[in-house]
Amino acid sequence: MTFGNYQNEIYLNGLGGVLPELPMAHAELEERARAALPPSVWSYVAGGAGDERTQRANVTAFDRWGLIPRMFVGAAERDLSVELFGRIWPAPVFLAPIGVIGLCAQDGHGDLATARAAARTGVPMVASTLSVDPLEQVAGELGGTPGFFQLYPPADRDLAASLVDRAEKAGYTGIVVTLDTWVTGWRPRDLATANFPQLRGHCLANYTTDPVFRAALARPPEEDPQATVLHWVQVFGNPLTWDDLPWLRSLTNLPLIVKGICHPEDARRAKDGGVDAIYCSNHGGRQANGGLPALDCLPGVVQAADGLPVLFDSGVRSGTDIVKALALGATAVGIGRPYAYALALGGTDGIVHVLRTLLAEADLLMAVDGYPTLAALTPDALRPVH
Ligand SMILES: Cc1cc2nc3c(=O)[nH]c(=O)nc-3n(C[C@H](O)[C@H](O)[C@H](O)COP(=O)(O)O)c2cc1C
Repeated sequence: MTFGNYQNEIYLNGLGGVLPELPMAHAELEERARAALPPSVWSYVAGGAGDERTQRANVTAFDRWGLIPRMFVGAAERDLSVELFGRIWPAPVFLAPIGVIGLCAQDGHGDLATARAAARTGVPMVASTLSVDPLEQVAGELGGTPGFFQLYPPADRDLAASLVDRAEKAGYTGIVVTLDTWVTGWRPRDLATANFPQLRGHCLANYTTDPVFRAALARPPEEDPQATVLHWVQVFGNPLTWDDLPWLRSLTNLPLIVKGICHPEDARRAKDGGVDAIYCSNHGGRQANGGLPALDCLPGVVQAADGLPVLFDSGVRSGTDIVKALALGATAVGIGRPYAYALALGGTDGIVHVLRTLLAEADLLMAVDGYPTLAALTPDALRPVH
């Protein structure tokens, strides 16, 4: 697939007087999404932990690396495809799990819109535990594109098993377990408006449709939403320790991916515990402030993973960011906030557009700079920017 052809399409449309309606660069995407979203959703999505220093550092960390151009390579055709978990992905890019993505769509069904964008582009989706529509319905919109179910491991082990079992039956390709969010980080923007969507009953469909969750309620969620939310508060978070990893591993034969790993030692222990991939991320700076940019943690995690695939997200805003993360060793790169903003502006079409712009930019950078394959993108392709 030649992702760079998106620019030909845009220039040719321009000859016919048709200009792109959706933004071509992240800054405009962000600005327009801010105007399009209700203020509470905007601050929940755009905000992060503390004074958001880590969140900003995630983004600026990419500025410190530059790709060094190589000439006489003749990179006329690029191959961005990658085999992961037994499937061929058209590009090493995926949609990171976003818990309130449902609310970012104008029709309130953003999980489904995201799955449809995955179906149209072949870019895999990681579907969050916290969704407006149940995981089965989200899976139903994925077409042939791989989907992953992201699990926030609940305190109730039977509920965890039930959610994973449902994900298996719905046809998900793997389970992503998020480790850094058993308690919510300190988020001043949300605190200032005392706004936490789940406490208002939003995005709990996977719980309210779950037989184990429902069995624990005195009355059905439809009849007593308040008690439902209270029960959810009690079961949501589970501060796991290494002793729990064998149990997590035993939940599924699907590929198990652990999200939130930034320390090499944690990557090593997770690998020893039998996970299938490491997901290096600091949750986009939403959980802990005062940390390192996730990109700075990536090389150490890659080295410790010792051949195990390493997924990466946090701060990716452009195609060049994708290329840099790949050069630093990521096997695949997750897109977060940009697709939430795109959804707010243009629904499924918006997400498709943003994915196509990111992939086109990455593809054309690899063409111009002479790196035609993923194998050519090694740390040696990068130099520090002074
Ligand atoms: C609004 C929002 C909700 C999120 N919800 C989840 C979630 O439900 N599960 C999860 O593992 N990560 C969640 N994340 C984290 C993303 O998967 C990803 O790590 C993060 O967005 C990357 O940072 P970036 O968007 O700044 O690039 C969420 C992120 C945002 C912005």
